[in-house]
Amino acid sequence: MGCRDAANLRWGEELAELETTLLKRRSTRQFTGADLTLPELKQLLDFTYQPHHSIDQGLDRAPDYFDLTLIQTFIAISGVEGLEEGCYYYAPNAQELRQIRFKNFRRELHRLCLGQDLGRDAGAVVFHTADLRQAIAQYGDRVYRYLHMDAGHLGQRLNLAAIRLGLGVSGIGGFFDDEVNEVLGIPADEAVLYITTLGRPRR
Ligand SMILES: Cc1cc2nc3c(=O)[nH]c(=O)nc-3n(C[C@H](O)[C@H](O)[C@H](O)COP(=O)(O)O)c2cc1C
Repeated sequence: MGCRDAANLRWGEELAELETTLLKRRSTRQFTGADLTLPELKQLLDFTYQPHHSIDQGLDRAPDYFDLTLIQTFIAISGVEGLEEGCYYYAPNAQELRQIRFKNFRRELHRLCLGQDLGRDAGAVVFHTADLRQAIAQYGDRVYRYLHMDAGHLGQRLNLAAIRLGLGVSGIGGFFDDEVNEVLGIPADEAVLYITTLGRPRR
């Protein structure tokens, strides 16, 4: 699924809406379970992984990450109108979602997120992962810290984009590390760093 046709998320005159979004951002505590739309998902991904698309608004072309080539993005889709349920790999350079497993994972996501309803009721659950062995071989043990900071940065971009779109979002740090790969079909070498759930907020 190509994502190049995403509408560019707008942040208002002099980024006024960015300020408002930063001020009102909160982690959603409960999703309704209703679907997201495909254009919404594409906008979330575009803002998060294609920062160069926002430079006309005065945003940073190359935000300060440690090394994003170490981080992979997998997305479990349970409820996005127009997108088949399953687990996808997001290829940031090609801007494509590539399906790796076809299935509705709601029940499994509930368990993987330690029984948290946010995992079950989200329309999309984003997994940021890294090949720890490869990263440590390249940079040494301290990379473990930097990987989490980069994953957190990506998570915060997803948070801001979701709030701007009127969606719900919450980070999830509590999950069964070892089971995620097997269930979702994520390659065994990839360790999950951080999860972000996205859905329709219960207000
Ligand atoms: C790294 C990280 C992990 C988190 N893990 C969870 C989680 O497992 N379950 C949950 O309900 N919320 C989780 N949250 C959301 C926090 O509960 C929430 O961010 C915190 O209560 C502060 O609220 P705020 O985001 O509205 O400012 C996580 C947030 C972060 C940043």
